[in-house]
Amino acid sequence: PASLSMDIVVSTLIMFVAVLVAAIWAARRLARPLRHMALAADRLGRDVTAPPLPEEGPEEVRRAAEAFNRMQSRLRRLVEDRMQMLAAISHDLRTPITLLRLRAEFMQDKTEQAKTLQTLDEMAEMVNSLLAFAREEAAEEEMRVVDLAALVETVCVDLADTGAKVTCRLAEPLPMSCRVSAVRRAVTNLVSNAVRHGGEASVAVETTPGQVRIIVEDEGPGIPEGELEQVFRPFYRVERSRNRDTGGVGLGLAVVRSVARQHGGDAFVKNRPDRGLRAIMALPLTPASAAGDTL
Ligand SMILES: Nc1ncnc2c1ncn2[C@@H]1O[C@H](COP(=O)(O)OP(=O)(O)OP(=O)(O)O)[C@@H](O)[C@H]1O
Ligand SMILES: [Mg+2]
Repeated sequence: PASLSMDIVVSTLIMFVAVLVAAIWAARRLARPLRHMALAADRLGRDVTAPPLPEEGPEEVRRAAEAFNRMQSRLRRLVEDRMQMLAAISHDLRTPITLLRLRAEFMQDKTEQAKTLQTLDEMAEMVNSLLAFAREEAAEEEMRVVDLAALVETVCVDLADTGAKVTCRLAEPLPMSCRVSAVRRAVTNLVSNAVRHGGEASVAVETTPGQVRIIVEDEGPGIPEGELEQVFRPFYRVERSRNRDTGGVGLGLAVVRSVARQHGGDAFVKNRPDRGLRAIMALPLTPASAAGDTL
């Protein structure tokens, strides 16, 4: 009887181990594609043009991957269509503007004529910047790994070379994967805003776990509290900047936010406690974006 109960214990143990191994195997088989899917969902937030998920594995997993891929291609089409529409509209608006300008040449009242021509120039400038923006967005720049700290420094140096007052607080090298010219444009927009609207720019790059923040500060007049969100709308300019000598059409911050969100980040502005504005562009710094995507 002693050996019999020993047998029972041993066979129960063997069975237990076998069931455990099978359970672990099954869990792994499900967990791996789920982990891939979580990574892909995360990446979709940063890059709609990311390659699709492999459609393999157990039936349910495969179906989920297929659905995910369908969702991603629909999203991508939506973004592309919207940009193409923007490009088409801004392109087609140039013809009537040119025609109006020709007609304005025949106006009798010369002061009215000058005003009309100036308004038409403004319209043409807005339409051209929109067109440039839409074309750039449609260009679908590849993600590349770049040293973000060096990129920010180059922007500062380039602007300082044109005579702008820019100081740059340097950070450690910061490799991350992004659309390089889009990010460069966004940083340029923030720094030139500080210079143009605030007199001078002081730029810093800070990292927190999982995030990198490009911070641009100035000592200018700041932005009225009620308009801190509105300035991100295309063509929105604060009353004081609407005269032509501060220049600009009001697309700069809209581009900054669009670029930040394209990368899964965001952009916002705050008035500093004493004086001036602090503009922040935050980008996610995931292990995947630091080492280049491995999925
Ligand atoms: N650093 C700043 N200090 C004060 N006001 C600012 C600052 N940055 C932006 N603004 C306000 O926000 C508005 C929108 O900025 P945005 O960069 O979008 O347009 P812009 O600078 O006028 O033109 P552009 O298209 O050339 O950038 C500006 O017109 C200005 O009124
Ligand atoms: Mg600007």
